[in-house]
Amino acid sequence: MTQDSYVKGIKRIIINEDEIRMKISEAGKYIDSLYDGKPILLVGILKGCFMFLADLARAVSVPCEVAFMAAQSYYGGTDSSGSVDINMDLKQDISGYHVIIAEDIIDTGRTLAEIVRRLKERDPLSLRVITLLDKPERRAVDFKADISLFTIEDVFVVGYGLDCGEYYRNLPYIAEFNTETIN
Ligand code: IMP
Ligand code: MG
Repeated sequence: MTQDSYVKGIKRIIINEDEIRMKISEAGKYIDSLYDGKPILLVGILKGCFMFLADLARAVSVPCEVAFMAAQSYYGGTDSSGSVDINMDLKQDISGYHVIIAEDIIDTGRTLAEIVRRLKERDPLSLRVITLLDKPERRAVDFKADISLFTIEDVFVVGYGLDCGEYYRNLPYIAEFNTETIN
């Protein structure tokens, strides 16, 4: 990746840093009101969650633990379409926890549907899902997050944790990716 093609990949900013900060602050207050002093376990889905989770964790005031899972989804093509692999699982028993899963985006919904299905089997006290972004037009399975901070159209986005070929995760904003720069 050259500096030139890297920069050309960023087509336009669709959600800026101030907008992200404001929504996360609101989400933190909402979570505080939902759990009312009860301890929570924030479960981030790597890698896309890393920036969102870091900011969300700082926006809540209830007692909060943090844990991570890693998931990978495959679509069509050579791989079996729609299957989701859990590459890294939680270490702890979650049966005594109010769990909130934090994910970067719901696209087809397959990743979150699978993660929720698995975590429910482990009997948490409660389970909710918060996502930074929601792309409802792309949904392939029936799944809705409890909280999504921004609904976006069907464009590929990068930044604030989201990548294209592992690049752009470190951008502090969400940008539409310029697909013409691929190949
Ligand atoms: P889903 O299983 O189709 O809902 O998609 C889950 C994963 O696909 C997300 O966690 C992201 O890693 C990735 N993804 C979906 N849409 C985008 C996008 O627009 N930009 C970057 N990654 C995306
Ligand atoms: Mg990704």
